[in-house]
Amino acid sequence: MRFDILTLFPEMFPGYTGQSILNKSIERGLVEVHVHNMRDWAKGRHHKIDDTPYGGGPGMILMVEPVVNCVRDVQAMGDQPGTVIVTTPQGQRLNQPMVEELALNQRMILLCGRYEGFDQRVIDILQPLEISIGDYILNGGEVASMVLVDSLVRMVPGVLGDERSSWDDSFSRGNRMLEYPQYTRPRNFEGHHVPDVLLGGNHGEVERWRNAKSLENTKKKRSDLLDS
Ligand code: ADE
Repeated sequence: MRFDILTLFPEMFPGYTGQSILNKSIERGLVEVHVHNMRDWAKGRHHKIDDTPYGGGPGMILMVEPVVNCVRDVQAMGDQPGTVIVTTPQGQRLNQPMVEELALNQRMILLCGRYEGFDQRVIDILQPLEISIGDYILNGGEVASMVLVDSLVRMVPGVLGDERSSWDDSFSRGNRMLEYPQYTRPRNFEGHHVPDVLLGGNHGEVERWRNAKSLENTKKKRSDLLDS
């Protein structure tokens, strides 16, 4: 799976891509992440990428020409143009079924918005998928792009050591249950004990207990999941 991230703040990404599961997946050749500075496509001595809105109003708008040129050039850098995605609070709200569908794409180009957004012609010309990570406003699309990448790489075969880890996830394949509680050593911490059933070695009992706890957890914390 290949990601091309188009941003005005490329320095935000190495810390994220350089760690943990994503870093290992990149090293193993399962995932590619290429970060591009959209400003490199802006013309003139000052590489101006934004301007004031026609009609007036606050903030700055990302200009159509450098952004569209950037996307087209980046598309040409791969063996397929890929799916263009804009992270924006105006987009369809991300959930696990969407993640599973998006994971069918081999290549995605993620456009991170800033300021008051893109010139509308960026959207009209490129016809990207518009995706929001929730009903709140971030300072820009970078963190939302990381969220998207993070959720998608889990779907790439081989990325998670144990294939069941994503298979079992809450919300995956229509799963509408939260996880059961987990424990590790020590058995007793300040009088808080690990439930006996987990120490007894009876796999059937453990599974029944976990299913019951999953249901209890879901009822208590996210009863809306059980309604649908
Ligand atoms: N950019 C700013 N806010 C956002 C959000 N909630 N989701 C995706 N991109 C964003």
